[in-house]
Amino acid sequence: MSVDLTTRYLGLDLAHPVVPSASPLTGDIDHIHALVEAGAPALVLPSLFEEQIEHDAMAIHFSLEMGADGFGEAPDGFFPRLDDYNTGPEDYLDLIRRAKREVSEPVIASLNGTSIGGWTLYAQILADQGIDALELNIYKIAADFRVSSAAVEDGYLRLVETVKRSVDVPLAVKIGPYFSSMADMAVRLVDAGADALVLFNRFYQPDIDLARLTVEPDLVLSDPIELRLVLRWLAILHGRVPCDLAATSGVHGSEDAVKALLAGATVTMMASALLRNGPQRLGEVRDGLATWLGEGGYESVAQARGSLSYGAVPDPGVFARTGYMKTLTSYVPTW
Ligand SMILES: Cc1cc2nc3c(=O)[nH]c(=O)nc-3n(C[C@H](O)[C@H](O)[C@H](O)COP(=O)(O)O)c2cc1C
Repeated sequence: MSVDLTTRYLGLDLAHPVVPSASPLTGDIDHIHALVEAGAPALVLPSLFEEQIEHDAMAIHFSLEMGADGFGEAPDGFFPRLDDYNTGPEDYLDLIRRAKREVSEPVIASLNGTSIGGWTLYAQILADQGIDALELNIYKIAADFRVSSAAVEDGYLRLVETVKRSVDVPLAVKIGPYFSSMADMAVRLVDAGADALVLFNRFYQPDIDLARLTVEPDLVLSDPIELRLVLRWLAILHGRVPCDLAATSGVHGSEDAVKALLAGATVTMMASALLRNGPQRLGEVRDGLATWLGEGGYESVAQARGSLSYGAVPDPGVFARTGYMKTLTSYVPTW
């Protein structure tokens, strides 16, 4: 019996739930073709960064205001037509156009920033290119001693509200795990306009180079153990927050995808494993997922989704503090 792998994410009907997440692989049209050939049901493009576009967006904003003052009523309004502006991140817009033209799978663009600025105008510009959805990656290191956690969270919410107001495509919000109250934050992000939450952003930690006595930025690909944190929050949020949930960080093989699904993921996303092993890994994970579900007697991804989530397991406390002391005190040293 074949398993129905179809999945609806951000209002998009996908052939299955194993999606390549934002990485250099989706930033190149040849790689995009390779990913689609390997079975990618949708593509999340790498991010356009606030730093890349802020200056250009402010310039557009300025032109808009000048235009409105200078020309009175314009038949097409004053929103800049892209070909009228040399706006800088033209390569990104080109990538969207080519992806939309050359593959039929949905294209999810990504914006990465922390603050409300003219750059949120870019959300609209990306939407105008025909993207199917937008992922907003909020990557903030809250290192200002005078900014409270409440103020940081308000900043997130205002950003989501602002971006949501400027686009009419579905909006996913990619966040890190470092909130004091993740469950409350998740609800407020959805209230602010998030149609999906992408759990979790990986923060790239700088390392200290002891030989040179310098601090170096460092990018280390993920390890499957990182999925554990994602599983916990998928399980807690599934069915209790009205949005889709995407799992990112630590999905390397089909068993990881199965676990994310059972915990409650709408889709699972992959970057590190694809960068390490190539696009065909995606098809392997999809096939492994189908095999596991089939052997387990599941008819569909929908049937399996969330079957080990907070609301479905006999002891949901296992996702919170239950077992914490026992786990620590029962550990047997191996030496
Ligand atoms: C080289 C590299 C580049 C990435 N670029 C982006 C990006 O532009 N925007 C983004 O939201 N995430 C980016 N990510 C994060 C991935 O999309 C993904 O969320 C993260 O790597 C965790 O998933 P994984 O365990 O499958 O790697 C990048 C990751 C890597 C390794």
